[in-house]
Amino acid sequence: MVKVRKIINELDPYVPGRSINEIAAEYNLKREDIIKLGSNENPLGPSPKAMAAVEAEISKISQYPESGLGDLKEEIARYSRVSPEQVLIGGDGADEIIEMLGKTFIDPGCEFIVALPSYMYYEYTLQNYEAVPVYARWDVEENKLDVQSVLDVISEKTRLIFLCTPNNPTGGLIDKKDIKTILEATDALVVVDEAYFEFSLIDNVDLLDDYSNLFIMRTFSKVLGLAGMRIGYGLSNSEIIEYMHRAKPVFSLTKLSHAAALATLKDTDYIKQSTELSIASREFLYEEISKIDNIRIFPSKSNYLLMDIRKSGMKAAELSKKLLKYGIIVRDCTSFKGLDEYWIRASVGTLEQDAKFLKILKELVSS
Ligand SMILES: Cc1ncc(COP(=O)(O)O)c(C=O)c1O
Repeated sequence: MVKVRKIINELDPYVPGRSINEIAAEYNLKREDIIKLGSNENPLGPSPKAMAAVEAEISKISQYPESGLGDLKEEIARYSRVSPEQVLIGGDGADEIIEMLGKTFIDPGCEFIVALPSYMYYEYTLQNYEAVPVYARWDVEENKLDVQSVLDVISEKTRLIFLCTPNNPTGGLIDKKDIKTILEATDALVVVDEAYFEFSLIDNVDLLDDYSNLFIMRTFSKVLGLAGMRIGYGLSNSEIIEYMHRAKPVFSLTKLSHAAALATLKDTDYIKQSTELSIASREFLYEEISKIDNIRIFPSKSNYLLMDIRKSGMKAAELSKKLLKYGIIVRDCTSFKGLDEYWIRASVGTLEQDAKFLKILKELVSS
């Protein structure tokens, strides 16, 4: 028998949102009738300029991609108001950035802190590096970070502290002053996950000048509409970025992803339209779902909304399954540590998709 690493044998699997193909096959539905509100994607689809750029690049895919990615770093630096030496690019989205954080900063037995509930992929990835998760608390009722709970668990062993803002799955923001308090309380790297910052109209890039232990993580999968191309990036000081480059796979960003990313960042009209649509859709859904008796909905600064559905008498698994029969995919949040079995998260859709979702949701929770 071949021997597998002990940690691989013990691994907790990550539960991703379900795909359109999977649901179409399971429920005998047409792909085009399915509304996917389970993975916080951009309901507008990709930028037309990104699609054209991918087509133009397609004849070159027999060649290796670039490894330096100088033009994309410059474009990301311009978008993020930093210099290109402060940019690291990941080819499996921001998830690859987490992987690189693990490779660069974790020795076995070191700790990382995450306030639950939050994005589960930090723990999923870092367990591979034999990092020990230490949990702080996100106050779900107030939808804010319990800062003291983070400060209380910082130790000599802490290497990384994840602060997700807006937080997935709750949608709440972390105050800049709280981020500063944590940065000042530790020498560990504080990773501010801004995967959804565009929807909140707030970012923390200004703190990079003052704090050498700050790392900001972002993605092209949300407002930039390229989840399928798997592009993420990190921003920090050039020293941290240089260390991380040592651990980075050389060719992880494909030629097509490179072309799509460049074209999207140049398409400022698309970015503006995507942001505005998602914010309008979020506010509309929040207002309408607030009127439904059996659902408690939380205000969000992101492109998804968290709902407590216990009063409906159903668990999240049951309600999400009923929605699937109508072709609507939402996220059953049972696999998020820090939440029980009564929470669902729905991403914003187009206004037309929202209307269909609302109609069916109302019927299901009232019957
Ligand atoms: C908070 C957060 N961070 C990071 C990611 C990873 O994004 P990706 O790997 O698609 O770039 C996600 C994806 O849903 C997320 O919700």
